[in-house]
Amino acid sequence: MQVPLSDIDRRAAYRWLIGGVVPRPIAWITTCSAEGVVNLAPFSFFNGVTASPMVLSVAIAHREPIKDTLRNLRATREAVVHIAPPARLADVHQSGGDYAASVSELGELGLATLASTIVRPPRLAEAQVAFECRLLQEVPVGEPATALCLLEVVHLYAADGILAADGFPDPHKLSAPARLGNRSYLDGNGWTVVDQALQVVPEGKRIG
Ligand SMILES: Cc1cc2nc3c(=O)[nH]c(=O)nc-3n(C[C@H](O)[C@H](O)[C@H](O)COP(=O)(O)O)c2cc1C
Repeated sequence: MQVPLSDIDRRAAYRWLIGGVVPRPIAWITTCSAEGVVNLAPFSFFNGVTASPMVLSVAIAHREPIKDTLRNLRATREAVVHIAPPARLADVHQSGGDYAASVSELGELGLATLASTIVRPPRLAEAQVAFECRLLQEVPVGEPATALCLLEVVHLYAADGILAADGFPDPHKLSAPARLGNRSYLDGNGWTVVDQALQVVPEGKRIG
């Protein structure tokens, strides 16, 4: 099947993206409004961008009124990007619902938080990895514009239990949930981690 872009509308293009670019990691993001209300929302158009400076990207689609996360980022320029524990997958999905700006999803979902080290938005107490970030740049893409937000990491947290012996995250222990197309997800048990892939790298060659 060939799909000329001239044949598909915005909705179909979105379906191709979410169905074809899989699995996607999920940024579970806390931000604070100017009034101090803590917001929580999931974003799967999310990735790492560069290590120096350490930058993450999150694409926040246009909506009227604009999404609370974007409004808060513009107002306060701070966020905490979490990798959710597998047991909280249902809450990740739930937090994508339409809550009023004055309502904190944290209270609605019964999620505990702890103070962050540098930024004002709190860290989810159960998160396995948390990146404290400042908004580095907002790049408008398209019309009406999706806001591609580049977030510079200013502090890192990882639960001891997900670290390998070398002190870095162990994918077997992290078991991060991921989003597939439609309403499907990979939960922490939906991944088969293939360590053997490294063995096919030719002697003396490095990947990454
Ligand atoms: C798993 C998941 C991933 C999502 N990814 C995105 C995304 O990458 N970009 C986006 O604009 N909305 C995404 N959404 C929808 C937002 O989470 C949703 O619009 C939410 O209400 C925004 O919350 P806020 O207004 O509190 O910022 C996603 C929803 C779910 C459940």
